[in-house]
Amino acid sequence: MKITRREAIKLGLASSGALLSPFGFSDLALAQFSPQIPRFEQPFRLPPELKPARSDATTDYYEIVMQKAQVEFLPGLKTEIWGYNGISPGPTIRQQRDRKSVVRFINNLDVSTSIHLHGMASLPQYDGYAEDLIPPGYYKDYRYPNNRASTLWYHDHAIRHTSRNVYMGLAGMYIVEDDVERSLNLPQGEYEVPLIIQDKKFAIDGSLIFDDRGQRSLYGDVMLVNGVPWPRMEVANRKYRFRILNAGASRTCQLSLSTGDDLIVIGSDAGLLSAPVRTKTLRLAMAERYGFIVDFSKYPIGTRVILRNPILPTNGDIDARTSEIMCFDVVRRESDDSSLPDKLRLVQPIPVSATTPVRTFRFGRGGNQWTINNQTWNRHRVDANPNLDGIEIWNLVGAGGGWIHPVHIHLVDLQLLDRNGSPPLPYERGWKDVFYVGENQTVRVVAKFGPHTGKYMMHCHNIVHEDHDMMTQFEVGQGGPDPMSVPAQPLPAPPL
Ligand code: C2O
Ligand code: CU
Ligand code: CU
Repeated sequence: MKITRREAIKLGLASSGALLSPFGFSDLALAQFSPQIPRFEQPFRLPPELKPARSDATTDYYEIVMQKAQVEFLPGLKTEIWGYNGISPGPTIRQQRDRKSVVRFINNLDVSTSIHLHGMASLPQYDGYAEDLIPPGYYKDYRYPNNRASTLWYHDHAIRHTSRNVYMGLAGMYIVEDDVERSLNLPQGEYEVPLIIQDKKFAIDGSLIFDDRGQRSLYGDVMLVNGVPWPRMEVANRKYRFRILNAGASRTCQLSLSTGDDLIVIGSDAGLLSAPVRTKTLRLAMAERYGFIVDFSKYPIGTRVILRNPILPTNGDIDARTSEIMCFDVVRRESDDSSLPDKLRLVQPIPVSATTPVRTFRFGRGGNQWTINNQTWNRHRVDANPNLDGIEIWNLVGAGGGWIHPVHIHLVDLQLLDRNGSPPLPYERGWKDVFYVGENQTVRVVAKFGPHTGKYMMHCHNIVHEDHDMMTQFEVGQGGPDPMSVPAQPLPAPPL
């Protein structure tokens, strides 16, 4: 059935804010709008912080059970999720640099999973290799070194099913802090706030609709922050530090404040910037993380500040309501003893020269699949073999066709050299592990490949693309541990 937008509105299928998808999925999309709910009414909330089950001199031991749950995202409706400890997003883990973590993930779902801690330099056997699956009724203890302070996230990475599993709820934040960062006296405690953004689509009965449009992309028309649609957060008139993560499947966000004031960016994916960067708009592609400060002290009590997300043409959007994410209501006066220093943590440029090795990876489409250098995933093939501690420049090239690809490279923290020869955006000049690669763009990134040897994945973080099949692997050095060498074990598990 083909219907026009006007007919759809007459039939009550489309909200007045509805837009037609630029990709021609209109009939599908129009048939499936989420129930319309008011924005900025549900209270903001934080995912709970997970306490270790046990700690010793060097290590904290945590346990997370993957299980189904019924939760209320939309007022009065129940939605089945697959959650870490039955919630989505999962609990936040907050860890100190150089303490070690062991996280036991128990699979009580009826699908296989693999858990990747995105941003951590884990050994290959603990990196959530896509084929190193935890079957239902099994568990695996993952070990993490916590060797740098940054905003990370853990999420599912099961081969060909990452998009479904993450969309069903398997994602959570993981924060590593250290003394250097604490000494900066940035807003902390209740003034340091994780914001995990996801877009989802719901059926009339509240169930999640997973529609990847023929393995192309997955967009929702409800914006959730920490699992709450369009939440309203009450804030004091002072500085807040936000750690924002785009955990959506395919949507690139473009953040701005309704007041027209600056977002003050202090950190990128893998740590603090050298100095704060003021910007009116902040692009946040899938899996990217930024830290930013908002200073609410200039607003009179009673001011509402909306976090906006003007729709980007590269998103296959179906509803203009995604152009707003959440609101902050300034409701009380408070003194503020936090600081915003001019210098944060120096980002030393990785040295490059005319002899630095260069490799090129082209992100495209062929044979109805998403490809890297015209190839799809094969765990027996390695597409790059940097030396341990070798510095290399990688050209990440986006093919045409209207698609963008946020490219993620496991293990290493990288720096962006340039995009089509132009300098990176000011807030991209820090440590990163995801890079927005637009249509016909060549993005040059550099990394020092270590500290571990072994095989690691690289893929597009549009997780629909990743699943079908825009993923490959590189191997650092020779003779590293096999990523499949520590398989999941059947339950029951011994004590942690
Ligand atoms: Cu966040 Cu390989 O993924
Ligand atoms: Cu990763
Ligand atoms: Cu992609």
